[in-house]
Amino acid sequence: MDSARRLLADMAPDFPPQYAGNLVTDTAEFMNIGHGDVIAVGGSHYLVLRDEAERRFGMEDPKFWVKRCRHLESGERRILKLEFFENFPVRIGSFEAHCYRSPQKESRILDLTRGDPRFMQGETFMDAGGHNVRVLEVVQGRRLDTLIEDLDMDHATYFRERFPEVLDRFLGACEALRFLHERGEKHGDVRRDHIFVEYQGGGWRWIDFDYAFDFHENPFGLDLFGLGNILVFLTAKGTPTPMSIPAEVAATLTGGDMSIVFGNRLVNLRKLYPYIPEDLNRVLLHFSAASEVFYDSVEELAGDLRACRARLGQGDAP
Ligand SMILES: Nc1ncnc2c1ncn2[C@@H]1O[C@H](COP(=O)(O)OP(=O)(O)O)[C@@H](O)[C@H]1O
Ligand SMILES: [Mg+2]
Repeated sequence: MDSARRLLADMAPDFPPQYAGNLVTDTAEFMNIGHGDVIAVGGSHYLVLRDEAERRFGMEDPKFWVKRCRHLESGERRILKLEFFENFPVRIGSFEAHCYRSPQKESRILDLTRGDPRFMQGETFMDAGGHNVRVLEVVQGRRLDTLIEDLDMDHATYFRERFPEVLDRFLGACEALRFLHERGEKHGDVRRDHIFVEYQGGGWRWIDFDYAFDFHENPFGLDLFGLGNILVFLTAKGTPTPMSIPAEVAATLTGGDMSIVFGNRLVNLRKLYPYIPEDLNRVLLHFSAASEVFYDSVEELAGDLRACRARLGQGDAP
């Protein structure tokens, strides 16, 4: 107790001493690590500020194993991801996969992608109790999904002016996943809030690599379904559902117009936005509940998309 207080007085004199907590060398009990505690790992000290959270479907999902910290030696912000194991089944259409968290997998990908601007950066240390601690640089950027949703323009304008550049960036994100797949790794949790768009330069970076899955039909299949969901989201500038679109369009929908992963999300976007080109819409339909053909590799998806991109033109400069 005292030692955290002394450390903070020395290394973070601006930190109110009454909030000084414990000096933590074993991170196993991550639920008990909170604001004011100091984690000592890898020869450095990290002042815990708060738990990270994910905002999904309008609710805060607290992540007690992901700590937003200040690295006391440098004063810089860091995110510490602590060891957390869970596993659960996922079902997509008639496919089933077994998913689990693997801190070691995230550590491997951090090592594999060091210096690569398409991925978050970080290092792994073992704490005194032998637990994996990933020390991450904070990506200076915004979640892709809220950034796109908040663009203040109607869909037709977005599609004409911004989508070509968005598609270029998306193709870059596909390339990044292909890099992993070629090396036998998967991202594991491909979602639109796991891409951050950097404030400086607008580059897209993947975060969150600790999910692993066994999906025997296609080892990279879940990553591909994830890419499909993101592509539909980017093309639609949101997630249209039968409830959110004009009733006369909703009345024409069948189950096959909807996503294979989320049965209430429209993927046959041409029914809603007739100016979406046929070839692009055909790519989207690979992710519909009616599809009988699936992309087996990122390259196959990216190849089709590059052809669509070439026909879209340049859009307007943002
Ligand atoms: N490197 C990072 N830079 C910025 N924010 C991050 C970073 N890593 C995680 N986060 C934030 O913390 C949240 C939870 O971390 P994440 O790695 O997604 O944990 P989990 O594996 O439990 O989903 C993310 O959704 C994101 O908001
Ligand atoms: Mg996450």
